[in-house]
Amino acid sequence: MARLTAGVGCSHVPAIGIAMDQGITEQPYWVPAFEGFEFSRKWMKDNKPDVIFLVYNDHCTAFDASCIPTFALGCAAEYHPADEGWGPRPVPVVKGHQRLSSHIAQSVILDEFDLTIMNEMEVDHGLTVPMSIMFGEIAQDDDWPCLVVPLCVNVVQYPPPTGNRCFQLGKAIRRAIDSYDEDLNVMIFGTGGMSHQLQAERAGLINADWDKRFLDMMTEDPIAASQITHEEYLRETGSEGIEMVMWHVMRGALNDKVTEVHRHYHVPASNTAVGHIILENHE
Ligand code: DHB
Ligand code: FE
Repeated sequence: MARLTAGVGCSHVPAIGIAMDQGITEQPYWVPAFEGFEFSRKWMKDNKPDVIFLVYNDHCTAFDASCIPTFALGCAAEYHPADEGWGPRPVPVVKGHQRLSSHIAQSVILDEFDLTIMNEMEVDHGLTVPMSIMFGEIAQDDDWPCLVVPLCVNVVQYPPPTGNRCFQLGKAIRRAIDSYDEDLNVMIFGTGGMSHQLQAERAGLINADWDKRFLDMMTEDPIAASQITHEEYLRETGSEGIEMVMWHVMRGALNDKVTEVHRHYHVPASNTAVGHIILENHE
């Protein structure tokens, strides 16, 4: 049977991907941000997943304002990198696991979570940057070390889903993974955040105290974390801090009690607070 072995929380700041693609991660600005990923890359090698269930958000790349699904599950054989602004990153095509995607679609939708099924989808920095952070540089004509089932969450246009809805969806995804008949090591990533605001009067806002409390709650009190309101995200973490609702899908899928094996927090990278946590799920 498939086993959900760990959850990873991780920012997706596009400039992190650009720094890797341009080979400038040794510059003083970037060194402290990347130091915190050294443990993670070694840990990924030691605990190599077969599949990552990757919860992320699209930034008007795969979807534009004409259609904005709240939860869109990737069911394709592959997902091509694409991006706004800087163009597609020179990273490998992301390979899917169609049989697992189909199983999750069936299990979760019959469990009464109405997902949108994506048989074709391009993926932007929201997905590729966490992959690069966790696996390091991989040549474009090479393969990522594992398959990916992406779940795209709307955090771009109001109203995004609540933290609680994301947390409950995580539990449904866990039930789906637990009932999959192939022997697979599955990890789940919750990506985006942490505090940042990219526009208007409060552009540049970062709230390190709040972010660190959120990381504590991810480990110790995920139910309380899932009850954080949209108003609190907006007030305390800026307009783009709402990306953190995606971490609740990851946390909801894990056991109540987890082991935090790594944490990294650094400000700033570009306009954003970089937050990262690795939670092991013991049987
Ligand atoms: C930045 C952060 C994001 O989450 C994003 O999607 C785009 C830009 C930034 O900090 O520059
Ligand atoms: Fe973003």
